Amino acid sequence: MGTKRDLVSILDMKEDLVGLLELAASIKNRTKAGEPYEPLRGKSLAMIFEKASTRTRVSFEVGMTQLGGHALFLSPNDLQIGRGETIADTARVLSRYVDGIMYRAFRRENVLELARNASVPVINGLDDKEHPCQVIADLFTILEHRRSFKGLKFAYVGDGNNVCNSLLLGAAIVGMDMTAACPGGYEPDAEILVSARRIAKGRGSKIHVVDDPVAAVQRADVVYTDVWVSMGQEKEKEQREKVFQPYQVNSKLLDDAKKDAVVMHCLPAHRGLEITDEVIDGPQSIVLDQAENRLHAQKAILSRLLAGV
Ligand code: CP
Ligand code: NVA
Repeated sequence: MGTKRDLVSILDMKEDLVGLLELAASIKNRTKAGEPYEPLRGKSLAMIFEKASTRTRVSFEVGMTQLGGHALFLSPNDLQIGRGETIADTARVLSRYVDGIMYRAFRRENVLELARNASVPVINGLDDKEHPCQVIADLFTILEHRRSFKGLKFAYVGDGNNVCNSLLLGAAIVGMDMTAACPGGYEPDAEILVSARRIAKGRGSKIHVVDDPVAAVQRADVVYTDVWVSMGQEKEKEQREKVFQPYQVNSKLLDDAKKDAVVMHCLPAHRGLEITDEVIDGPQSIVLDQAENRLHAQKAILSRLLAGV
């Protein structure tokens, strides 16, 4: 107890995010070279999923196996949480069996409650506020394609959601300029925006939130979008699909970005809504590199938090 380290917000990695991206690169190189790297031999990760997942579940599970450990998939319906056992008791009990807990939750409060009561590291696998593991992989992917964050213009177009919030903080931490274009009423979290701007100021970079997608992508090096309807917002689907229509990332919008701009999406994509087939399947899209890099970036996160690498 006392020395464990959690990843609830990407801010928890603020001091060594760059080092973590370097570790991800070295782990990826070793994996590609077929060199075994198993700092988590004999270790186990519990994974609690309150929401669906393809990438997070598979990349964490495969990542643990490649690191020499093991992952357990737990759904709240199968756990006693579904029958009223508290998150705190679940955290205390799981801490006696496993070496880390990954949690995809509806509410940030519950992730914090789990982290407070677990004596092992807790990793946020997406909540209502943030998606830190996604954005660590995204930053790693940007570095692979652009070498440095310095001078880059990053544009986010769409919903000011969990992914956008972590991107704002992540961009600020690495000193990359970011402009988010979100419709009124769908802006990023106000407190997160304040923190991102404070950090960016110290790093000499700029964070803007606007409502005009065309203004956001002007001369951008990276254009990023995410779904208009996040998990848990299904009831707002009709309204959201109307409001977000002008925020579609299509070839016309992309014309305003730099000619060699890359296009990113954390996936799953709703083709024909936030992004067109033409763009997501086009030569500027790096969405599959992003998806692959979830594996390498999370292996770095797991090695650092569970084995102190
Ligand atoms: N990007 C992402 O987190 O995907 P999943 O919901 O499939 O895990
Ligand atoms: N914003 C999306 C991300 C999915 C990976 C959601 O929360 O559903």
